[in-house]
Amino acid sequence: MGTEDGEKKMNRRDFLLITGGIISALSLADLLPSATSHAAAIEFPESKCEGNSMVNKRILVAYASKYGSTGGIAETIGKELCREGATVDILQVKNAIDVNSYQGVIIGSAVYMGKWLPDATDFVKTNCEMLQRVPVAYFMACMTLHNPTEENRRTVLAYLNPVLKAIPDVKPVKIGTFAGALDYNNLSWLNKKILKSKGTPEGDFRDWKAIHAWAKGSAGVFIPGEK
Ligand SMILES: Cc1cc2nc3c(=O)[nH]c(=O)nc-3n(C[C@H](O)[C@H](O)[C@H](O)COP(=O)(O)O)c2cc1C
Repeated sequence: MGTEDGEKKMNRRDFLLITGGIISALSLADLLPSATSHAAAIEFPESKCEGNSMVNKRILVAYASKYGSTGGIAETIGKELCREGATVDILQVKNAIDVNSYQGVIIGSAVYMGKWLPDATDFVKTNCEMLQRVPVAYFMACMTLHNPTEENRRTVLAYLNPVLKAIPDVKPVKIGTFAGALDYNNLSWLNKKILKSKGTPEGDFRDWKAIHAWAKGSAGVFIPGEK
């Protein structure tokens, strides 16, 4: 009896030690995803671009991103509008504090678990009043569009529904849906496993031609009279 109990206790203790060790190792991998990987450096581009002094428009391109790929899209959109003559600030939403000086705002986010990042939604909520007075466009970066079928486009457009429902007074005049980028080296063990099991490919699928075209097409909305 005594020995059997002792063995049971030992087994329980061993079990706890082993599972505890596994959990700690997994947690550590989540906390330090890049320490053992070959992830490329993550950048969040922010810049200001002086347009043509004859075009009296200041546009904000604000974005939310975890791993930087949405920032590249925001920068491309902003630079295109700047080439069209507008003065453009490209900022992460968390750094876009004073929005009252802009005559147009483009807000974009990476999609995580079928949604915009909370920072982007919060930005629209916080600036709701101002965003009703100027033209606004939304855009998204996601991996569903690595395969740009009609069905996938519909799926991706639906990602915006929670934002449109939560802040119905802000009505975007344009919505851009773009394929993003994914580097498995940046991800935690668990996220990597989930995305791999869904067959989400790794790579940079940003379609620069489509992004330029969308931005050029937006000039008519944001810089009326110039186009
Ligand atoms: C944990 C995780 C969840 C994701 N969920 C979705 C999703 O629900 N739908 C989708 O199309 N893409 C999804 N993606 C892909 C990202 O939207 C895509 O990689 C995007 O370009 C990331 O932007 P960022 O580099 O600016 O953070 C997910 C990526 C990760 C890592």
